[in-house]
Amino acid sequence: MSTTPLAPFKHFATDAIHAGQEADSVTGAVVVPLSLATTYKQDAPAQHRGFEYSRSGNPTRNAYEACIAKLEVANHGFAFSSGLAATATITHLLAAGDHLICMNDVYGGTNRYFNKVATRDGIQVSMVDLNNEQALRAAIKPNTKLVWIESPTNPTLKLVDIAAVSKIVHEHAGIIVVVDNTFMSSYFQRPLTLGADIVMHSVTKYMNGHSDAVFGVVCCRDDAIAERLRYYQNSIGGVPSPFDCYLALRGVKTLAVRMKAHMSNALAIAKFLENSDRVDEVIYPGLPSHPQHELANRQCSGYTGVVSFRIKGDMTTSKKFFEKIHLFTLAESLGAVESLAELPAIMTHASVSAEERAKLGISDTLIRLSVGIEDEEDLVEDLRAALAYAVSDELAKKPKQKFVATA
Ligand SMILES: Cc1ncc(COP(=O)(O)O)c(C=O)c1O
Repeated sequence: MSTTPLAPFKHFATDAIHAGQEADSVTGAVVVPLSLATTYKQDAPAQHRGFEYSRSGNPTRNAYEACIAKLEVANHGFAFSSGLAATATITHLLAAGDHLICMNDVYGGTNRYFNKVATRDGIQVSMVDLNNEQALRAAIKPNTKLVWIESPTNPTLKLVDIAAVSKIVHEHAGIIVVVDNTFMSSYFQRPLTLGADIVMHSVTKYMNGHSDAVFGVVCCRDDAIAERLRYYQNSIGGVPSPFDCYLALRGVKTLAVRMKAHMSNALAIAKFLENSDRVDEVIYPGLPSHPQHELANRQCSGYTGVVSFRIKGDMTTSKKFFEKIHLFTLAESLGAVESLAELPAIMTHASVSAEERAKLGISDTLIRLSVGIEDEEDLVEDLRAALAYAVSDELAKKPKQKFVATA
């Protein structure tokens, strides 16, 4: 593995605003200009000034890629037109006959891409519980080339010990560890510092944070992996528009303050829900009741803004809850300034079979909140009113029940 030395770092919040974003050399503009040109004048045939054609390189995109590479403690960054375009491009590092291992509880679109698309191209896929060391070791084969981690997972917020998995995987030469860092953002978790080789994000979520761009990014340190990613980024062509790069670069400037606010609101809401007699169970890595709370504290410097909980009752109770909730918008997606709520069993995870949902813990009463950065008291009040409406006093008196996943 060869890596170019890392550039010197300032603190995170400083790099988010300045890395890759020098004032414009011609006008002095302090904001990186939105560069819409698709092609660039050459001084002589094959003599260009760093840009030839906007799919291969664009000044606004370059600034974004440099900034995120810095934030992920990497030295190479690549932007894509969506998180899934990033995933697909990474998967092109593999060839027909190669094998990849994926955490068994990942974003549904990642699962679909690996099992329904990559397999058609001859990639072998194993879905494995990466928290089970024996299962991981048993799954590694001579043709294994990639291990895909998502931590925490969606919507049941299971963590994977990135350092432990990377160590085991790297006992075998030539296997790349990839981490989908979408739920934590670069502010709270930096997988390359824990031993992973590649980190990716659905920038659509926290990294951009304003629900106004579908976008993906990939970062790595190894120069050879970077060269191949650059080749596939250009050859496959799933690049973002310059305007989306501009938005994503603007969004990331406030990542540090946004994540602190997401975490503080989410913690308050998780505690409120845990104390509510209308709720059976709360799943939040920031609570001591989370089975991997200690790992969360060791691996991350903060907690996500996503909180999942099980309302007392059944599907009817869950649906009633959504009749009354106002500040939380009933919508899929997560990670933006406005609060969202959804019912995974019939929304984001409807395509997962009932049997698989029961295994993963996605019950009809599991509600996922993406806690935004509105005022904490207003958010708690909204939840209090919806819970009081949906769960009867009689049901509230019943003891809290813990969900037991089927084996
Ligand atoms: C964890 C995770 N990874 C990847 C993706 C895919 O990203 P995109 O929707 O930007 O293609 C998502 C989307 O919800 C996600 O939640």
